[in-house]
Amino acid sequence: MDRFSHYVNELFVWNEQMKQFLQSEKVGQDSELWGKLDHFTELIESTNRELSNEELLSLQAKAELIHEELEQYFKRKQEIGNVWVVEKVLSPGGHSLPELPYPYNALEPYISEEIMILHHDKHHRAYVEGLNKAELNLKKARETNDFSLIKHWSRELAFHGSGHYLHTIFWRNMSPNGGGSPEGLLKGEIERYFGSFDAFKKQFSEAAKQVEGVGWALLVWSPRARHLEVLQSERHMLLTQWDTIPLLVLDVWEHAYYLQYRNNRAEYVDHWWNLVNWHDVEMRFEKAADIKWPAV
Ligand SMILES: [Fe+2]
Repeated sequence: MDRFSHYVNELFVWNEQMKQFLQSEKVGQDSELWGKLDHFTELIESTNRELSNEELLSLQAKAELIHEELEQYFKRKQEIGNVWVVEKVLSPGGHSLPELPYPYNALEPYISEEIMILHHDKHHRAYVEGLNKAELNLKKARETNDFSLIKHWSRELAFHGSGHYLHTIFWRNMSPNGGGSPEGLLKGEIERYFGSFDAFKKQFSEAAKQVEGVGWALLVWSPRARHLEVLQSERHMLLTQWDTIPLLVLDVWEHAYYLQYRNNRAEYVDHWWNLVNWHDVEMRFEKAADIKWPAV
């Protein structure tokens, strides 16, 4: 059996197991989950030929989406821990270099094989190793109650964390069969906010070309403004770990405490803990924890 048939066969078996599981859990036939699984079965059954890389990725994406929805469903039913919905959780220092979803030469002629090998295997790997090191050293700081190097390790955490997370997104943002323009909800939202796809593309390209020094151009979703936005990131180590969601924040700009505490920021910070609204933080955490990407 070749690699392709093996993969499709695996998906098929997994799909059947999911159905048996829904049955054993007595999930009603009217649940959306059944419809989605049935649709997925049809999709796999109609797959009797060699698929292109893109089709295979799309099949994989659909499988991941259904898996995610099942996971959410059972999480809501407080059934985490079941063999089918086990979550992969990363401990400090547990990051690993994700494999590229295509061969190193697949993006030629636009990006050469040589660049891809260096970029993925050397640069991205260094970010993963740096992030693991920062996480482990911060763990050690907590255990020994020695935070004398907190500034250094927070910088490392931001630099290598952003590097690892952004590259992980970057590889999957590209495909040998990419190009064109988006469909569906994203298409609608781009047109609504930026005016047109071309206007968005122009702004994104200019943002990328005009990043001061080195860095990134990013299309982001703002859950607050509820619209898309294009941002530039100059370098990526400015103490921000991209691809994370703030839950609890403390303003230590002088305007936040100087009138009362003068230069005694430490006292302000210690007192501030009396004010934390944990219900709000819990609510933000529960919402944010719903967003899950594959753990690497
Ligand atoms: Fe890079």
